[in-house]
Amino acid sequence: MFFNFMPNAGNCLILGGGGFIGSHVADMLLKRGYRVTIFGKRNSKKTNLAHILDRVKIIEGDFNNDVDVRQSLDRIDYVFHLISGTLPATSNDNPIYDIEINLVNTIRLLNASVERGVKKIIFVSSGGTVYGTPTHIPISEQHPTHPISSYGVVKKAIEDYLFMYHALYGLDYTVLRLSNPYGERQNIFGVQGAVAVFLRKALNGEPIEIWGDGNTVRDYVYIGDVAEAFVNALETTTAEKIFNIGSGDGRSLNDIINLISTIHGPRIEVKYLPARRVDIPVNILDISLARTHLNWQPTTPFQDGVKRFYNYLNTQRYAQHVG
Ligand SMILES: NC(=O)c1ccc[n+]([C@@H]2O[C@H](COP(=O)([O-])OP(=O)(O)OC[C@H]3O[C@@H](n4cnc5c(N)ncnc54)[C@H](O)[C@@H]3O)[C@@H](O)[C@H]2O)c1
Repeated sequence: MFFNFMPNAGNCLILGGGGFIGSHVADMLLKRGYRVTIFGKRNSKKTNLAHILDRVKIIEGDFNNDVDVRQSLDRIDYVFHLISGTLPATSNDNPIYDIEINLVNTIRLLNASVERGVKKIIFVSSGGTVYGTPTHIPISEQHPTHPISSYGVVKKAIEDYLFMYHALYGLDYTVLRLSNPYGERQNIFGVQGAVAVFLRKALNGEPIEIWGDGNTVRDYVYIGDVAEAFVNALETTTAEKIFNIGSGDGRSLNDIINLISTIHGPRIEVKYLPARRVDIPVNILDISLARTHLNWQPTTPFQDGVKRFYNYLNTQRYAQHVG
């Protein structure tokens, strides 16, 4: 294993860099001296990038458009692929769409990357879906992969195509199987992201709805730590290609509610609804491989990360805009 720190050593393209995770990866890349280009949808909001607009190049286009993607690769050394057109919860509604929008377009990206001489692709996969229902906890990268959502199947298929393109054409890559990131700039109106949604509801005085008894356990990891993992993956040369990225700890939904109650103060109303069959009871990732090979470990305790996110939302006064 070699750990190389390379200031000013490359041009990075972040596909989906205006989003929650991508904007934090952009921050970390700039901090470590890289040149950053961000590819996002035409006329998309630049709110997440407002603080760095003068330091990044923005390319507007559509990931579904091969010409746009090819043009964005001009003089790019490293690609962070963070675009997904589907979500875990709804991808089964239309698996064909999922395949076309995510898998087919990604293969086009891989073809163009080979042609353009891209040195490495960092792909964000999903530690919450590629393993399916866990047979044991914590889940290491060796755990069987039997996804039960199209989202997970497609993420896994992309992982396999990356392996193939590396073997056949020498395109280097790293896959990060991410757990549940949370933190500043996360969409608080989304259908996923328990910390974000619960904080919004608490700040807005709305009841928090929980499917089941609140004992569903997930691995929540602070976004600043996640961004470090992405950039470490770029700077690390190792035979290992697939890494779990999480906290390595489990928190139940009730744990989150209790923590938010402590931070927020006013009483929080919680409504327990019937459990959903799609929710697997526990998912906690084993992150030892990333600790060893990416020289990475999460350093933000859950309490601190949630407090930071809470303070950020308060400052942004997001709660006032909630309808
Ligand atoms: N957020 C999570 O909990 C989580 C967990 C594991 C993996 N992931 C993966 O991480 C990636 C990023 O997630 P995020 O939470 O930052 O999402 P996000 O929605 O905040 O950001 C995605 C960005 O991609 C852009 N985009 C989407 N479709 C596009 C298209 N056709 N053309 C151009 N740009 C397009 C969006 O405008 C947005 O800026 C996704 O691949 C997702 O599957 C997310």
